[in-house]
Amino acid sequence: MSKKILVTGGTGYIGSHTVVELIQEGFEVVIIDDLSNSQVEVVDRIADITGVKPGFEQFNLCDEGLLSDFFQRHNDIVGVIHFAAFKAVGESVTKPLKYYRNNLVSLMNVLESLDHLSLKNVVFSSSCTVYGQPDNLPVTENAPLKPAESPYGNTKKVCEEILLDACSADIDLNVISLRYFNPVGAHESALIGELPKGKPNNLMPFITQTGAGILPELSVFGDDYDTEDGTAIRDYVHVVDLAKAHIAAVKHLLNISSDNNYQHYNIGTGNGYSVLDLIKSFERHTGQKLPYKIVGRRAGDIEKIYAGTALANERLNWSAKLELDEMVSSAWKWQKTLKN
Ligand code: UD1
Repeated sequence: MSKKILVTGGTGYIGSHTVVELIQEGFEVVIIDDLSNSQVEVVDRIADITGVKPGFEQFNLCDEGLLSDFFQRHNDIVGVIHFAAFKAVGESVTKPLKYYRNNLVSLMNVLESLDHLSLKNVVFSSSCTVYGQPDNLPVTENAPLKPAESPYGNTKKVCEEILLDACSADIDLNVISLRYFNPVGAHESALIGELPKGKPNNLMPFITQTGAGILPELSVFGDDYDTEDGTAIRDYVHVVDLAKAHIAAVKHLLNISSDNNYQHYNIGTGNGYSVLDLIKSFERHTGQKLPYKIVGRRAGDIEKIYAGTALANERLNWSAKLELDEMVSSAWKWQKTLKN
C-alpha cells in the first residue's frame, strides 16, 4: 500500500515538525503550503534533518481548481494532515472574514477533493480553545464546548462541526481532530522551530525574544487569578510530542475498523504550568534573569486549563514524553540560531 501523506501547511511550525516525524516513520510526504506564514527554506531544513526531501507545492487551498488537479496527480495519497490555516487571534478580531474564508473554504475544498482518492483519511488541527474556560479540570473530550472568544477560535469550532457532519454523511470518510493545548519548543537540531512574524503574541517566543534582548521586557498578563502564584495556568506541550501525536492519529486511521468515523482527542501533557513557572524554568536553564513586569489581564484569556489525556493514551497509544525544561531549552536553542 502507498504510504503517501499530504501535509497542508507543512512548512509551518507544527507542520514542519510533523513532516520530520512522518519521514522518520517511513511515510512519503508531499506538502502544500502557500508560504503566507512560512518560508520555503523549511523544506531543505527538513531534508537536512531526515535525509529525505519532501514533495512541495506552493498554492492556497482556497483555489479549488489547483487542489483538484493536485489530487488527480497524487491519487495514491492515503491520508491528509490539514494544518493550513490563519492563526493570529488578534488579527482574526479585526479581519474576521479573512479568517472565516480562508480557514473554512480550505477545509471544505480539501474534503471535496478527497473524492479523487480511494482512502479518505483526515487529521485536523483543532485547539483546546474550543473548551473556553472549562467547568472541570482536567478537561476531557466530552466537556461542553463554549462560545469562542475570537473569530479564529470560532473557525476551529465550526471546522470541527463541518467534519462531524461530513463524516455523518459519508461513512467512507474517517477524521480525527486533535485538540492541541499550548505547543512550544523546537526540534532538537534547532533547524526548524517557530518563526513568529513581528512581535509574538504567544508566551514562549515572547520569553525567548526577551531573553535574547530583542524585546526589552515581558508583560505578565495578570497575577490575580485563582491559582497558586496568581498567574494563569496552561498545558504546554513540546511540538515534537505534538508532531508524534499526528503519526499516531494517521496510524490509527489506517488501521481503523469498527471505530466511529469522527473522533477527537486532547493533545497535551496533562500538567498545568503557570506563566511564572515558565519564567523560572527559563531562568534556571539560561542562568540569566528575565526582565518582566506584572500588568493587567489580557482580554479573552482564561484562568486555567490542562488536558485530560486518557483517551489519546488509550486509543491512539500516544502520550507526551518531554518535560517543561526540555520545551524551554529547545525553544532557547532555536532562538539563539535566529539571533546569529
Ligand atoms: C493562544 C490562543 C489560542 C491558541 C494558543 C496556541 C489567545 C486568546 N488564545 O492561547 O487560541 O490555540 O495560543 O497557539 O490568544 N502571556 C503573558 N504575556 C505574554 C503572552 C502571554 O503573560 O506576553 C500569558 C497569557 O496571558 C496566558 C499564557 O501566557 O496566560 C499563555 O498565552 P499564549 O501563549 O498566548 O497562549 P493562550 O492564550 O493560552
